[in-house]
Amino acid sequence: MPSLNDIRSTFLDYFARNGHRIVDSSSLVPRNDPTLMFTAAGMVQFKNLFTGVEHRDYTRATTAQKCVRAGGKHNDLDNVGYTARHHTFFEMLGNFSFGDYFKEQAIPLAWDLLTKEFGIDPDRLLVTVYHTDEEAVKIWKAHAGLPDERIIRIATDDNFWSAGPTGPCGPCTEIFYDHGDHIAGGPPGSPDEDGDRFIEIWNLVFMQYEQFEDGTRRDLPNQSIDTGMGLERIGALLQGKHDNYDTDILRALIEASAQATGTDPDGAGNIHHRVIADHLRSTSFLMADGVLPGNEGRGYVLRRIMRRAMRHAHLLGASDPLMHRLVPALVRQMGQPYPELVRAQAMIEDTLLTEETRFRQTLERGLRLLDDELAGLPAAAALPGPSAFKLYDTFGFPLDLTQDALREKGRSVDVAGFDAAMAAQKAKARASWAGSGETADAAIWFDLAERVGNTEFLGYETESAEGQILALVRDGTEVSEATAGQKVQIVVNQTPFYAEAGGQVGDTGQLTTASGRARITDTRKVGGVFIHFAEVTEGSVSRGAGAGLAVDHERRSLVRANHSATHLLNEALREVLGDHVAQRGSLNAPDRLRFDFSHNRALDADELDKIDARVNHFIRQNAPISTRLMTPDDARALGAQALFGEKYGDEVRVVSMGEADTGKGNNGRTWSIELCGGTHVAQTGDIGLFVITGDSASSAGVRRIEALTGAAAFAYLKGQDRALAESALALKASANDVPGRVRGLLDERRALQNEVAQLRRELAISGGRGSGAAEPAETVNGIAFVAQVLSGVSGKDLPSLVDTHKERLGSGAVLLIADTDGKAAVAAGVTSDLTDRVSAVDLVKSAVAAMGGKGGGGRADLAQGGAKDVSGADAAMSAARDILGAAS
Ligand code: ALA
Repeated sequence: MPSLNDIRSTFLDYFARNGHRIVDSSSLVPRNDPTLMFTAAGMVQFKNLFTGVEHRDYTRATTAQKCVRAGGKHNDLDNVGYTARHHTFFEMLGNFSFGDYFKEQAIPLAWDLLTKEFGIDPDRLLVTVYHTDEEAVKIWKAHAGLPDERIIRIATDDNFWSAGPTGPCGPCTEIFYDHGDHIAGGPPGSPDEDGDRFIEIWNLVFMQYEQFEDGTRRDLPNQSIDTGMGLERIGALLQGKHDNYDTDILRALIEASAQATGTDPDGAGNIHHRVIADHLRSTSFLMADGVLPGNEGRGYVLRRIMRRAMRHAHLLGASDPLMHRLVPALVRQMGQPYPELVRAQAMIEDTLLTEETRFRQTLERGLRLLDDELAGLPAAAALPGPSAFKLYDTFGFPLDLTQDALREKGRSVDVAGFDAAMAAQKAKARASWAGSGETADAAIWFDLAERVGNTEFLGYETESAEGQILALVRDGTEVSEATAGQKVQIVVNQTPFYAEAGGQVGDTGQLTTASGRARITDTRKVGGVFIHFAEVTEGSVSRGAGAGLAVDHERRSLVRANHSATHLLNEALREVLGDHVAQRGSLNAPDRLRFDFSHNRALDADELDKIDARVNHFIRQNAPISTRLMTPDDARALGAQALFGEKYGDEVRVVSMGEADTGKGNNGRTWSIELCGGTHVAQTGDIGLFVITGDSASSAGVRRIEALTGAAAFAYLKGQDRALAESALALKASANDVPGRVRGLLDERRALQNEVAQLRRELAISGGRGSGAAEPAETVNGIAFVAQVLSGVSGKDLPSLVDTHKERLGSGAVLLIADTDGKAAVAAGVTSDLTDRVSAVDLVKSAVAAMGGKGGGGRADLAQGGAKDVSGADAAMSAARDILGAAS
């Protein structure tokens, strides 16, 4: 009996032998189709090849594509567990022709695979065709020899396939397997076609049109083929089972669930095991493709699926979280064809454990409330909307979980009542927001958030994706279009652009639509709405259009490196300076990083060196950076550093990097653990190099470190090196000797300065005549008097020069005026034997006044003053003589 893994390989190998390229499954999050929530068919990744927009080096491909049908157009969530063939996750096998072969080969290829490779009895096969497709009928007859009664013409959309309201589409032919008349059910197109006797196994779509939004349809440039066969269905058939859940992979997961809960896989809990097996696959694969549980969009669909599974685990009586314990079984079954599952295993287990632990805290109370509510209702009455809303709001029960719980009791929920309660709560939030003093400008974003919902951020996983333009805002008003040259703010449903937060700057890049292009110069967010600040550069962009969004890769890479380096710096600071270090702010720009932290003194050179060295040590370690989602409490318990100024919701992203070697006594553990919503490098080595360029005071008790990474750090160090080399050259010394030589030169300079000052003083006393020949004194009113204007001496030198003159005179008075760049500094002295006749203060005051100044003061034997203009020096000396002349 072939395993599902065998069947997958047989399928791919068969088409490879027939000239098809085996292409990997694409991500469950479609990058190239903003209208899809999840990849739900094999053709999604090839959409642009059908329409001729894109060409690759192959025209035939084959895939085993991961698909999720939960949320969005294709939603099988409600039926999972209760039917034989519904899944939220399944694999679709397909072969594709992009303008290569068409019906004439597609039908024979399929028929031969089924009947020859897989050995299915041709007599048990029948097909449907679109009612107008006589060509397909002819090929079926010619190649498969099918009689008329086994070619059923269908006039409905069942035989006209399209991925969505727009895009490539075409008539299809479906191949059915007849399980035999012992099973109830009629052939396709008959009233009882929903029975289990005739099961569709393969859909061959003859892609030949492209459908547009306005309802028109054009022929595709090339007729193409898109086929899809559920692996689980063909597997059931080839393994002789009627129920997909009895195929080997799902059976193994059901048994793992039974074993982990100590229950019978086929007993009363069978439905629970089926739900758990299916949901384990969809949740794990979604997380491996970067979706994490959240309260919006894809994250919320993921959470809904998880919680649904967790309720079923609870119903099985599992007393501890169950889901994470089943992941190893899934990895054993599917890790080989899908290695992303192996890479993400630890993260998936962690996230499931966190989610289940948390949900269990309210699950039981919620279920009790549900029972109480039901007990008070008439039999079979629907659960009132407000009760379902309370379960949602207080106990975290998604609506479909409540519906699932009621289904077992044959009851339903008043969905309209639930919606009304939800709307009332939103209105209340809006009212309280309106009163919170936010600016009117923000009102438009709040309205938008309510109308179009929060933007889904794809930028952790990808730098380019398609989004749908939901709103354009110019000068605070919504517009439907913006044209070249106009500045406009653009809101899309999903974006790879990071909106400024947590110190990381917003992304820049390009937005392209069918009718124009715009440059994105910044991205910010208000609440959950991402605002792309754009300038239209070509044509026009309009609301409703699909838009290619490409982040400026260079710039984002630089920002990433700086952000990751900031985490390493934060930890290094704590290690070197102490645990009191807490982040007070940060900037992660493309060209630099800045980090403010609590610390009350400047860092010395040793500390800075140590910090630099630690950060670079972890860069060289080149350890992978891991990101996980957990509750804030769990994150703190793990030792995560909470970032300053961030508000944390129910769950937080935890970014960890570096393998601890020393410190904190946690050898072998993660070195830096922070709560952070930013984007980071994959490995610490991607940072390249780190260098601190500045340490300064930012505010009281807060220091600021500025630093560079990568090429900028290297350029900075090269610049420093060059400056040192030039200094060494000028000093004719080796670089190592430069500091000693500079210190020597500074000492020498100081000694020379002292010597010059001394010589200047001596020169001044001598009146410029050379050393020894002192200025002669005049005699005024019997008092020896020296009056002199000096240049080249400073005001502060004057008192000592006055003293020198006084000593030389023995008895007398001195007035010195220093010419300092046109201003006058004045000092006067009177020897102590004369101070009762004349005061130095009076001499200074009169001199200063004569030069147009005011004031002056000191003691009777030595006084000082100053004036703005030295040109009145002669008048000043005369005024001093007058004072002396008037002395008693
Ligand atoms: N795209 C087609 C389907 O999903 C084959 O059924």
